[in-house]
Amino acid sequence: MQIGQRFGTPLSKSATRVMLLGAGELGKEVIIALQRLGVEVIAVDRYPNAPGHQVAHRAHVIDMTDRNALIDLVKAEKPHLIVPEIEAIATDALAEIEAARLAEVIPTARATQLTMNREGIRRLAAEELGLAASPYAFAQSLDELKAAIAKIGYPCVVKPVMSSSGKGQSVLKSEADVETAWQYAMAGGRVNHGRVIVEGFIDFDYEITQLTVRAIDPASGDTQTYFCEPVGHVQVAGDYVESWQPQPMSALALERSRDIAHKVTAALGGRGLFGVELFVRGDDVWFSEVSPRPHDTGLVTLCSQRFSEFELHARAILGLPVDTSLRAPGASAVIYGGLEEAGIAFEGVRDALAVPFTDLRLFGKPESFKKRRMGVALATGGDTDEARERAKTVAAKVRPVSAG
Ligand SMILES: Nc1ncnc2c1ncn2[C@@H]1O[C@H](COP(=O)(O)OP(=O)(O)OP(=O)(O)O)[C@@H](O)[C@H]1O
Ligand SMILES: [Mg+2]
Repeated sequence: MQIGQRFGTPLSKSATRVMLLGAGELGKEVIIALQRLGVEVIAVDRYPNAPGHQVAHRAHVIDMTDRNALIDLVKAEKPHLIVPEIEAIATDALAEIEAARLAEVIPTARATQLTMNREGIRRLAAEELGLAASPYAFAQSLDELKAAIAKIGYPCVVKPVMSSSGKGQSVLKSEADVETAWQYAMAGGRVNHGRVIVEGFIDFDYEITQLTVRAIDPASGDTQTYFCEPVGHVQVAGDYVESWQPQPMSALALERSRDIAHKVTAALGGRGLFGVELFVRGDDVWFSEVSPRPHDTGLVTLCSQRFSEFELHARAILGLPVDTSLRAPGASAVIYGGLEEAGIAFEGVRDALAVPFTDLRLFGKPESFKKRRMGVALATGGDTDEARERAKTVAAKVRPVSAG
């Protein structure tokens, strides 16, 4: 496929086909952006009627950690591009697919392999690229963990090397916390890898996501790096609850953030949007981690930017020009399920959207859990404080209820 110049008709021989691996709320928005550009989209998830399944041309349910299942599906669907939306994928299969030129993996198969494991990305960022990061060590047993903590000191953070959304993660204040943290990490890892990272706790003033796009510059035809305004956010138990854009920063902290983001995304390569997570204290910036795909805290860009992070991802992967400009200060506030039930309903939506300058996404997830993200409230304002107030008001007015 000639990336960027020629687009076909979906469901015909000329179609440009893109396969999303993971079709949650972030994938759903990428799919909608692709659909608008006349792309044929195949959505894959591990459960039926996932948000992205509901807006794609075709939907498949497979275990994406199963190499054979993944390769068979790619051979059957013949996508031009494969776009991972989650980390829990047989990334070795992606490397095989890339090597056999069956499809192009976004941003690269190697990027998906490195970022799915905290060890891979940490060693790349801190050891190969020399980026500032919290002190760290790895451990494979309780005894090794104690030895690792002896080097790092307290407070520290223990995380399974393979996990996301704060699963299996704890902050340790003293020796009394070590055993519980080890047990929790063993129970919370994605695959029971038995391996953890210990990180020195960074007492940051605030944390940001530096959304960074690697896209083709139409003038030169070369891949260039573009930055969005920094996204500030609040995390509770490793899960984002609120985000806003732009986060005010000192000129030096912003420059350092973008330098880190530039270097780490260049090392991962390929095209697409990346979410670079950074901790900031004064003018100091530490690299935390990076997603080679749209980031949940970037949901705010659905209202705050001329093109959302999802549209930017779609454009970048298709070889199209991007525009990362801010439209207005904005905010997002997460709407949780609050109850454990399939097929729930939402009340108060009309009242919620009567708040001026606001918008809403209800993801359409078939089943609600207490702490499952079911929707997001969006708002713009004269500044981010006003936007945050509006977004939180909207989120509070939308009430998940039992459908009886
Ligand atoms: N070394 C650290 N020092 C201080 N805070 C930390 C540290 N590591 C993690 N945190 C806090 O915990 C949050 C989640 O950590 P991290 O991003 O590593 O986990 P995760 O499971 O990958 O989460 P997600 O997948 O949602 O990004 C961070 O955003 C930050 O608020
Ligand atoms: Mg994170």
